[in-house]
Amino acid sequence: MTKIKSKFFCAKCGYETPKWMGRCPGCEEWNTLEEEILASKNSFKRLPTLVSSTKPQAIESVGSGAFDRYNTQIEELNRVLGGGIVRGSLILISGEPGIGKSTLILQMAATIAKQYGEVLYVSGEESEEQIKMRAERLRAVVDGLFVISETNINVIEKFIDEMMPVLIIVDSVQTLYKDDLSSAPGSVSQVKECVNNLMRISKLKNIPIFIVAHVTKQGELAGPRVLEHMVDTVLHFEGERTQEFRILRALKNRFGTTSEIGVFEMEQEGLVEISNPSAMFLDSLATSSEGSIVVATMEGTRPLLVEIQALAVPTIVGFPRRTAVGVDLNRLNLIIAVLEKKMGLPLSNYDIYVNVVGGLKLEGTCADLGLAIAIHSSFRGEQIATKKLIAVGEISLTADLRPVAHLNKMLREAAKMGFSTCIIPSKTKTEEIKGLNIRGADNLETALNMILADD
Ligand SMILES: Nc1ncnc2c1ncn2[C@@H]1O[C@H](COP(=O)(O)OP(=O)(O)OP(=O)(O)O)[C@@H](O)[C@H]1O
Ligand SMILES: [Mg+2]
Repeated sequence: MTKIKSKFFCAKCGYETPKWMGRCPGCEEWNTLEEEILASKNSFKRLPTLVSSTKPQAIESVGSGAFDRYNTQIEELNRVLGGGIVRGSLILISGEPGIGKSTLILQMAATIAKQYGEVLYVSGEESEEQIKMRAERLRAVVDGLFVISETNINVIEKFIDEMMPVLIIVDSVQTLYKDDLSSAPGSVSQVKECVNNLMRISKLKNIPIFIVAHVTKQGELAGPRVLEHMVDTVLHFEGERTQEFRILRALKNRFGTTSEIGVFEMEQEGLVEISNPSAMFLDSLATSSEGSIVVATMEGTRPLLVEIQALAVPTIVGFPRRTAVGVDLNRLNLIIAVLEKKMGLPLSNYDIYVNVVGGLKLEGTCADLGLAIAIHSSFRGEQIATKKLIAVGEISLTADLRPVAHLNKMLREAAKMGFSTCIIPSKTKTEEIKGLNIRGADNLETALNMILADD
């Protein structure tokens, strides 16, 4: 009897070992090691090569040109993809259960089928009837959209060969399996092998493939980390399940920037694009301005206005709590420390809660000033003088205000959304904007005084 060679692989950190162990020596997590059957040398010989030339070429002589892209006609999706779906690319889309992955890709499949030709939707999770029912609700029953409920990658490959569609969708990669491997669908070796097959198909036949992937309880991509290296683009779909809107962002993109986001709203007839997210985020501004202020931030090339709320309450026992939703906790701690030391607020006896309304996660330092103002206002129990005010600026450890990039764009957005006053770092040069009173402050203290004096 020939002995099957295998090795074990940690699903979390990628640690390799010839023997199974309960605990991974690499990341010290329990039960993360999974078996991978090693393919024999002969099996590699059958694989066609992915490269298109047989000898090295001078880079000047290699043909280039713009990527050939399909327009999904969903502007928010095009934006995140970097301008559309690049032919022959492999795109992974992940997100929590029920967030709307299948909805988004089915809507996209319909628009692609209408414009370019046949699209194959492979589902391992739902029957053809279930997909049809969803497609009817989304008005995605169109000519050229083919569905199949199948999980065997070898069978799927046969269908692809016969059909040669313009786009393939696989929902989800965790349900796929390959005959030759004995491990269960969803295991590291199955997922890796199936994605390898899909990669070969997409590159050789120049067909883009969308792969849906599950996430773990911690919100990370389920399966081996190597998956992210194998694909061209990783998209993540997120949002508060209790609220209707969803945010799509690119975690990796070989064909575009990863700083753009796409904003959608989940409705009865599917995901609706939100082309003016600021209006949506400001839709339900808090009625009291105590501890609440609007800040501006950049998401990719788009300026965005969002409301920040802070609540400071006396600590009852022990250590003060710091809870941040939508803001980096380290950033919050830094601002609290500056408020305490430089502004004399005794915040070490207060629990502080911060929330960015609408579930958006703020990156960068644009919101520092707004955050400090909101905490200060809640601590003092004072209303911010006007609701038509926004604050933008980075706070340094010396309590000085530092300039931020793209300020003019943010100010134009603020004027468009009807704000009348904007507090910014005084060192920044800005253009005149009609209807907007732009006030510069050197440091945090001046900015806080402006807010109290303003009306
Ligand atoms: N009839 C309906 N009206 C409005 N919204 C609906 C309706 N049916 C489903 N939804 C919304 O669609 C969501 C499910 O979408 P979808 O099946 O695309 O999610 P998914 O991310 O693919 O989930 P899974 O991980 O289970 O495959 C539900 O959570 C709900 O918000
Ligand atoms: Mg689904």
